[in-house]
Amino acid sequence: MTPTVPLGDGGALPAIGLGTVEAEGEDMSATVTSALDAGYRLIDTALSYGTEGGVGRAVAASSIAREDIVITTKIPGRFHGYDEAKESARTSLTALGVDRIDLLLIHWPLPKVDKYVDTWRAMIELQKDGLVGSIGVSNFTAAHLDRLEAETGTVPAVNQIELHPYFPQAELRRYHAEHGIVTESWSPLGRGSELLHAAPIVAAATAHDVSPGQVVLRWHVQLGAVPLPKSSNPDRQRQNLDVFGFELTDAEVAAISGLERGRIWDQDPDTYEEF
Ligand code: A2P
Repeated sequence: MTPTVPLGDGGALPAIGLGTVEAEGEDMSATVTSALDAGYRLIDTALSYGTEGGVGRAVAASSIAREDIVITTKIPGRFHGYDEAKESARTSLTALGVDRIDLLLIHWPLPKVDKYVDTWRAMIELQKDGLVGSIGVSNFTAAHLDRLEAETGTVPAVNQIELHPYFPQAELRRYHAEHGIVTESWSPLGRGSELLHAAPIVAAATAHDVSPGQVVLRWHVQLGAVPLPKSSNPDRQRQNLDVFGFELTDAEVAAISGLERGRIWDQDPDTYEEF
């Protein structure tokens, strides 16, 4: 069983989840079915990925109890606003074929649109109504998080951010820790970049007799973040979940964090827009 991480609202998340941005030609339902078989219980999708249907079919076909699976989805830019956010959740519930979204996030803050606070107010109600288990955000900066707290009094349970050894986000993670927000990592493996060949990662892999991917995922776990690695390969899916039998030394964690060089993609949440 994968360990869990407690959420500030009383819930909990599995310490590792599956990302579901679809590769071309991929059958997401098959990918999620093999992930559930491998032991994944946190599945991360988004309305804008177009993978909610595949995720929902895999969950419905599985013999695993629905309450044992945490399904996360996200509200895209075109659904920012109070009424729109509720419509987005209804659209996702239908696409997933479930009666509850376990974790609902605002996908991007879109500060120029300036509707994320209204979106958040609708999510607080969706949670009260029981249609959504936990509510959180993605790609929010400390300033955006401060504003949600100041204007609504409700702190997100989660902030899902770009996080990998090239972009360790120490300052934002410190803010999360101080405010009881769980950090989730998107693109935790650097999404096919040369990251997995970096010297400190390869050295730690050799020292612990594991793969570079396992070293990077273990690094996330030791930072206290919940990584959402994407893999359609059943062997790599299993491997990516199997990171609880070894521990990186402080020096190894520091050397891996020392790979810092910034975002891989030019997606600064203060300016990036996606609808
Ligand atoms: P594949 O689906 O063939 O396993 P990220 O999670 O950072 O977005 O990275 C996902 C990419 O990394 C995918 O191309 C995936 O390919 C690959 N990948 C996933 N797990 C591993 C691993 N343990 N080692 C090497 N590559 C991996």
